[in-house]
Amino acid sequence: MKKRILTGITTTGTPHIGNYLGAIKPALELAGPENDSYFFLADYHALIKQTDPTEIEKSVKNVALAWLSSGLDCNQSHFYRQSDIPEIPQLTWLLTCMTAKGLMNRAHAYKGALADNLAAGEDGDYAINMGLFSYPILMAADILMFNAQIIPVGRDQIQHVEMARDIAQRFNHRYGELFRLPAAQVDDNVAILQGLDGRKMSKSYGNTIPLFLVEKQLKKHINKIVTNLLEPGEPKDAETSTVFQIWRAFANEQQTAEMRVRFAEGIGWGEAKKELYELVNEQLREPREHYNDLLQDPARIENALAEGAEKARIESSELMRQLRDAVGIKALV
Ligand code: TRP
Repeated sequence: MKKRILTGITTTGTPHIGNYLGAIKPALELAGPENDSYFFLADYHALIKQTDPTEIEKSVKNVALAWLSSGLDCNQSHFYRQSDIPEIPQLTWLLTCMTAKGLMNRAHAYKGALADNLAAGEDGDYAINMGLFSYPILMAADILMFNAQIIPVGRDQIQHVEMARDIAQRFNHRYGELFRLPAAQVDDNVAILQGLDGRKMSKSYGNTIPLFLVEKQLKKHINKIVTNLLEPGEPKDAETSTVFQIWRAFANEQQTAEMRVRFAEGIGWGEAKKELYELVNEQLREPREHYNDLLQDPARIENALAEGAEKARIESSELMRQLRDAVGIKALV
């Protein structure tokens, strides 16, 4: 039996190589005919943090472009925009009524915001909206709507997938076995890519390498990676180096082993960055060309999303019908 794979990317900001390596590339590796895959743009999730409509619109386009340019085959998988599936917010409500408030109190995004408020001497609820608080329920709906089993995500999302599982279990217990139980899948090699400043690569730190830079800009970003003051010829610690870490994320095993030796031998930072640029640039060349083609023809992006939603809704509308029936929302005669 085919396995159902599902993952989404929140549409805030411009996709960067961390998103590509951590989410898009591993997801596409699972997207062959042996699996049933569901990839989507989490635009409802974006509203939790982003209230500028222009930014939302821009990001939806860029994230869609990132998937499509990276070699996603829409015939082999389901590719859609969350907001094009009206059953998802419907399911969110059914799940909301099955979710203990205490479970949401423990979700780390909310807990973090609460702790920051308290540390700053603010009211605990300061600037926390209900979207942030119940975010894991919307994410559970994304997953359960398609009865997905394998959820490739970054380490920070494991808790949410476990919550989806808890919520599904509770629902099944009350209303019958309607949901399969999902599990997170984390790739340890790529889950925590460092950014230019050495902290986790994240749009919220502004330390990313965007995915579709022109060559000159890509080189400039790579040159900005923070290193130490060691001179060429002095041995360098590969494990703590951001340059090496990004190298490893793009390189094969042999290239990684070779670069590790060259760090020990004291490769200069300038040289290491030059080689990193060449490696990354080579791998992004083809996606970048697709990206530029698609940019000329945005209707192709919109069509792909519309067709994807239509295909996905065959599934979601049928499951929603069963769910409504199970909870007792049905025709009287
Ligand atoms: N919350 C995820 C993130 O910020 C994105 C996401 C939304 C997602 N719904 C999902 C990921 C469902 C996997 C499955 O990274």
